[in-house]
Amino acid sequence: MSTSTPLQPLLQVQKVTLEYQTTQHIVRATHEVSFEVDPGDRFVLLGPSGCGKSTLLKAVAGFIRPREGQIVLDGQLVHEPGPDRVVVFQEFDQLLPWKTVKQNVMFSLLASRTLGKREAEQRALHYLDKVGLSKFVDAYPHTLSGGMKARVAIARALAMQPKILLMDEPFAALDALTRRKMQEELLQLWDEVKFTLLFVTHSIEEALVVGNRILLLSPHPGRVRAEINSHAFDLHSQQGAAFQQTARRIHRLLFEEGAVEVPAAENEPAAPVSSHPQKRIA
Ligand SMILES: Nc1ncnc2c1ncn2[C@@H]1O[C@H](COP(=O)(O)OP(=O)(O)O)[C@@H](O)[C@H]1O
Ligand SMILES: [Mg+2]
Repeated sequence: MSTSTPLQPLLQVQKVTLEYQTTQHIVRATHEVSFEVDPGDRFVLLGPSGCGKSTLLKAVAGFIRPREGQIVLDGQLVHEPGPDRVVVFQEFDQLLPWKTVKQNVMFSLLASRTLGKREAEQRALHYLDKVGLSKFVDAYPHTLSGGMKARVAIARALAMQPKILLMDEPFAALDALTRRKMQEELLQLWDEVKFTLLFVTHSIEEALVVGNRILLLSPHPGRVRAEINSHAFDLHSQQGAAFQQTARRIHRLLFEEGAVEVPAAENEPAAPVSSHPQKRIA
């Protein structure tokens, strides 16, 4: 959905420091975080609670301005929210309860004046079909299960055809089985639609399943620990030895203070732990 050439990163986050000003003091959420997302990536921000993942996503969305550093999307400096970036949150209640499923998906298209009513309806139906909700277009949100609400939220986001889809722990409130199903569906959807995804999670397993690249962030304030390639994994490899090994390695990198890996192991190439310049590993 991007106009960028494949050689140019779609999103560049450059030494971004993010802070909150409270009445008493300043809270630093991230410290000089850098990463680049290429068109078609499923890029995951992974780190413990409070490490600044949501804050980073909000900054990319344009809700928060960096204290230092900059964010560039498709060659343009991000300084405010725009329809080229759409966020899907964890909360079930992100749908408007008085509107039907179809009206919910149409709403953003109409409110942003992206499309007229007829085109908006067609596009809404198209994406609702993609997430398997064709039979529920006239249902109201309170009649839907958690997984179905998540599907509506995804259809609504994709219908905007954003340059990048931002997801903040979108499945965290779902039961384990529904969560796995949603991860699987998200991958299928990506296969069909080929959108660019920036996905936040604190679950190592979810990161490995959903992402093709994973950025590991240290605890508060978030700094880049390493970047891992994970395109070899899908839902069916979760029991495999390579998956478990990578999960353990990520756990070490995330939680062991000053963890440094010894290079040499054939299937575990050297992992840089310093953040600048960060290298891709695995
Ligand atoms: N509105 C806010 N005001 C002050 N501090 C905040 C605010 N939102 C988040 N923080 C703090 O910023 C840090 C990062 O938060 P957040 O981005 O929500 O982390 P994560 O999503 O990784 O759990 C935390 O220490 C959190 O307490
Ligand atoms: Mg969060």
